[in-house]
Amino acid sequence: MSDLQKALSLKPIVALCKRRGFIYPGSEIYGGFANTYSYGPYGIEMKNNIKNLWWKMFVHEREDMIGIDGPILLHPKTWQASGHCEGFNDAMIDCKECKARFRIDHLIEDFSKKPIEGKNLSELNQMVKDLNIPCPECGKRNFTEGKYFNLMFQTNMSKTSAKEEDIAFLRPETAQAIFIEYKNIIDTMRVKIPFGIAQIGKAFRNEITPGNFIFRLIEFEQMEIEYFIKEHNWQKHFDSWLLSMQKWCEKIGLKKEHLHEHEHNKKQLSHYSKKTVDIMYDFPFGRNELYGLAYRTDFDLSQHQKLSKVSQEYLDRETNEKFIPHVIEPTFGVDRTILALLCDAFEEETLPSNEKRNVLHLSPVIAPVKAAVFPLMKKEPLVKKAKETYQIIKNIGNIEYDDGGAIGKRYRRQDELGTPYCLTIDYQTLEDDTVTLRERDSMEQTRISSKNILKELQKRLYT
Ligand code: GAP
Repeated sequence: MSDLQKALSLKPIVALCKRRGFIYPGSEIYGGFANTYSYGPYGIEMKNNIKNLWWKMFVHEREDMIGIDGPILLHPKTWQASGHCEGFNDAMIDCKECKARFRIDHLIEDFSKKPIEGKNLSELNQMVKDLNIPCPECGKRNFTEGKYFNLMFQTNMSKTSAKEEDIAFLRPETAQAIFIEYKNIIDTMRVKIPFGIAQIGKAFRNEITPGNFIFRLIEFEQMEIEYFIKEHNWQKHFDSWLLSMQKWCEKIGLKKEHLHEHEHNKKQLSHYSKKTVDIMYDFPFGRNELYGLAYRTDFDLSQHQKLSKVSQEYLDRETNEKFIPHVIEPTFGVDRTILALLCDAFEEETLPSNEKRNVLHLSPVIAPVKAAVFPLMKKEPLVKKAKETYQIIKNIGNIEYDDGGAIGKRYRRQDELGTPYCLTIDYQTLEDDTVTLRERDSMEQTRISSKNILKELQKRLYT
């Protein structure tokens, strides 16, 4: 267990997220709706900062990338072609006594700490019996046989019939919405291989054992890229994308020492992948997948060509060569990015005065509020001057004005939100037109001239 894990549990982070309007449990007024969450006002700011930065880095700043926004409901044949109807399953087991349901691999691993990779269902069922595993909920030892369940959420397209052809699925990955638009892209855009298509959007998985806050959700967001290449240089592109993913982690401020890489062995590989490397993060509950990079070969496009009977071939106009491109897929979970950033950033600090403060050491580009402006007291002319200051800087990002309560409490609130800078208008401001600039991490206060506030903040936040 890493130092981070020892020092931290998810509890204070979950509490801060609710208390400060980052993330609320879903449908709380109805007693909650398991494993769903709402992003509150600060959560959505942080989420948008991540998505905008990702789009800037991977779409706008590159000449070989374009973006799309495909639908959540795709033609049901998509999922036959992609292999999700057949192969997107988890083996589940039920406790006959208390009716609790578990993923059989998690049940065995949690109890025995033994690796179970590559075991088939009957071997897993046998292990549950041999190890005499008790139900984690009620302690009894009376399980059903484990069975496979598909993870896709189903819905019906027609209001009147329940025919099989009317069943549709909520997409379990955004990737397929890219693959089935690949033909439109090469027909309508001036793209030349190698090129990539990026997309950010929701995906849905009927995970039976979700949990660890927003780590494993049933509804989550992905930022995915399908990068189309010629087969022979797949390794070069794979390595280059791994480098880009590492740069992304650095850019958003994740600590290097909490990041690791794990290459899948043959038994762990998904049906579509020839090579997969996961970027793992040391979450407080253990090291787990943050992002993935896969060499998907020509599996998806070939499958869609087979089922749709529409050619997915690319014509190289220089060589006159026709071929189905191969694909490198870097994939990033938005919610897991937020969780990892919160875990890295959160600190319960004891100050020299023995006072405690919670602080989120978020990088300015990720922080939901960039700066806050306070009058020292809710009195004129301090309020008027503070409001003027707020007007001067309000367009450089999400800026807050706050004049409620003691100044110390207002600082603590902004520390918990991860706000990098606070500006306080006090009585000295009225004399010499300087304001106090307080830095979040060091809590150092310096006086700067009102005239320079905008420039100074821009420099500190964005360079
Ligand atoms: N298109 C490939 C794909 O979907 P994946 O490893 O199943 O691969 C990609 O998912 C990323 O999506 C993961 O690395 C993770 O960040 C995120 N993710 C997957 N399942 C998730 C879940 N149930 N809840 C939250 N995020 C999830």
